Parts: sequence; structure tokens; C-alpha cells
Amino acid sequence: MLDIQKIRADFPILSQKVNGKPLVYFDNGATSQKPQVVIDAISKYYTEINANIHRGVHTLSQLATDAYEVSRGKIQKHINAKFAHEVLFTYGTTHGVNLVANGFAAILKPGDEVIVSALEHHSNIVPWQMLCERTGAVLKVIPMNQEGELIMSEFDKLLSNKTKIVTVNHISNALGTINPIKYMIDKAHEFGAAVFIDGAQAVPHLKPNVQELDCDFYAFSGHKMCGPTGTGILYGKEAWLNKLPPYQGGGEMIKEVTFEKTTYADLPHKFEAGTPNIAGGIVLGIAVDYMNEIGFENIQKQELALLEHATKRLLEIEGLKIFGTAKAKTSVISFNIDGIHPFDIGTIIDKLGIAVRTGHHCAQPIMNFFEIPGTIRASFAFYNTKEEIDIMVEAIKKAQMMLS
Ligand code: ALA
Repeated sequence: MLDIQKIRADFPILSQKVNGKPLVYFDNGATSQKPQVVIDAISKYYTEINANIHRGVHTLSQLATDAYEVSRGKIQKHINAKFAHEVLFTYGTTHGVNLVANGFAAILKPGDEVIVSALEHHSNIVPWQMLCERTGAVLKVIPMNQEGELIMSEFDKLLSNKTKIVTVNHISNALGTINPIKYMIDKAHEFGAAVFIDGAQAVPHLKPNVQELDCDFYAFSGHKMCGPTGTGILYGKEAWLNKLPPYQGGGEMIKEVTFEKTTYADLPHKFEAGTPNIAGGIVLGIAVDYMNEIGFENIQKQELALLEHATKRLLEIEGLKIFGTAKAKTSVISFNIDGIHPFDIGTIIDKLGIAVRTGHHCAQPIMNFFEIPGTIRASFAFYNTKEEIDIMVEAIKKAQMMLS
């Protein structure tokens, strides 16, 4: 078992008071908190080795380049990519989605099909819609059921030789559903379609094994897994990354530039134009080390216990309904209380030191499906406790009394 109090001591922000009350941070789906080792590594980078990478022969530039590439290697190992050059540094998941969607503009023809799911975050819908508008391809949507699970028999029916790419999240940000991505990847491959996985909500909870999954692309953000904001990874199979055109032009992504013709650098640099978030990329490797030291089995055990406790305690509240009751679910609970707007609950419990997200969670189609304006979402991390859940439940009861 994890020593949660010892782990909490690694996160200085967790001992803060907010609005005069001890902070209860349940907005981990939006961003995770950062351990001291990550905070220190940012400061150490700027204090000791700050320089631009892949450019200078001077010592600091070499040190920064080495640290950046060591981090790429750590992430390659973490996700079990075959080659380090299949691991691209990005600014976050959204950047990864846009990079691939933009690249597919060179591949798709009118009438080709792109399959998304009803459970997606806007960032895994809009770039594909934009792609379809540009190319004349058609967007198809895998429907979901009342539990918040994608309906696999409908997915099977949508697949055809017209399908060029299937894009789905590993875990839903709004409901916590864990999608059967291995099944979906294998099925899509039978039709020769590529598969893009949005892993933004998965990487805080599990270690994706991209070779075992056999996905073509897997994107995630660093800031949801104890790393800095403005960091992310796009994994792509070598063959796909060689096939796609560059996303942005600029320094570092070229082999040779003349006014007549420019040739592009090899992977991964072809997709890494401009000066990246160097400190962020290096420190993301430190965050990955930190999470691996805690261990994903331990993380999952703790989060499952929190999910079970929270589900049981929340259902004690009269008129409370949970949205998203999938059998395979992570530590995210979306709920509403009869007759009360989620925003009002969120505002009152914030005064009691509790941070949750309220609203549509950048997933309006999910809210439309349930015919609600939004939900209150509590998303737990391994450093949260059952006692904090009890504090939230009492705060919600108080808010309910005030508002009814
Ligand atoms: N995508 C993040 C969330 O679900 C911001 O809150």
C-alpha cells in the first residue's frame, strides 16, 4: 500500500489553504499537481544549463541537448515505442491531434471517412471536422449508450474500406469511461485504417504500451501526469511519420533550405520546428520517473479505492445522479443534483476549499446526449484521500441545503 501522507508531502500545494480551508484538489482531470522534484528540476534547468538545443557546439547547448534527448529516451521506454524518433515533443495533446489531422489533409480524398466517437473532448472532434471540411471527407460518429460506453456493434458497422482513420480517446475526460481501444485498433486495421488514440486522460492512471496496442498514433499531455504545462508527446509509427508532411515549417525541421526547394530533416526533427519548451521536455522525463517510482499498479489501486468510496458516499445524497457508469471506469465522477445548476454547487464548495470542475468539460456532445447543460466533475489522483472525499460530500450536502 502507498503511504499517502508521505506522497502528499511531495506536493507543496496540497498543504495550502484556499479560502481559509485546507485545499481539497479534485480537478486532476484538468491538470495534476506537481511534486517538489518536478518544481526543483525546472529551477535547476534554468539555473544551471539553460541554452538552446541541437544548435550550438558550446558546452551548455550540449548539456541541454543531451538532457532533452535523455528525456525523449525515457518516454520512449515508458510507452514502449520501438524507436526514440517515434516520440515527438509537442505542447500538449491538442497539438498532437492537430499535427496528425493536418497531415491527413495530404492523404484524404472526397468521400473518404474519418471515424470519431461520441465520447470525445472537443480537441479530438474539431481538428477532424476541419480536416473533413478541407478534404471533402465524411465524419462518422460511434454512438454511446446510457452508461457512457461506446457501442462496439455500431462501431463495427461504421468501418469500411472508406475508413481512413479512427480517432478515439483511451479514457473519457467527462465520464471516466475506459474505451476498448485494443479491440478498436485491431478492428480498424482489418480495414486498413489508421488509429489515433487521445491518451490525455489515460497517462495519469496507466502506462500505455504502444507496441502491444499497435496504435498508429498516441498523444498525451505532460501536465496531467505531474509534468509542466505546455508539454506533450505524440507517438507515431515510423512509417506514418515518414509519410505525413511536416506540420509547421521553421528552423530545426530542415535538411537544406534554398529559395528553390527545401528538404526536411529526419525524424523526429521534421515535426519539431522552432525552439521547443526545452525545460518542459526535460522535466517531463523527471515527472515520468516520479510516477514510475510510485508505480502504476499502486496508483491504480489507490484510485480505484477512491472511486468506490466516492461513488458510495455521493449516492447517499438525495437527488444526486452520476453520469457515466461504465463497467470499465477510472477515478472520475461526473454528477448532478436535481434542480441545482452544477455551477452553483461548484461555486459554494470552492468557498469551502474544494476544487472540482463544473460545466460541459469541453465535451458538449456528451452533455447534449444526456440533455444536461453540464455536470460537476470530481477527478481523483493517487495523492487524494477518502477523508477528502468525505469533506466534499459534507460540503455538497451543505450547498444543497443552501440552494434548495
Ligand atoms: N481536458 C481537460 C479537462 O478535462 C482540461 O478538464
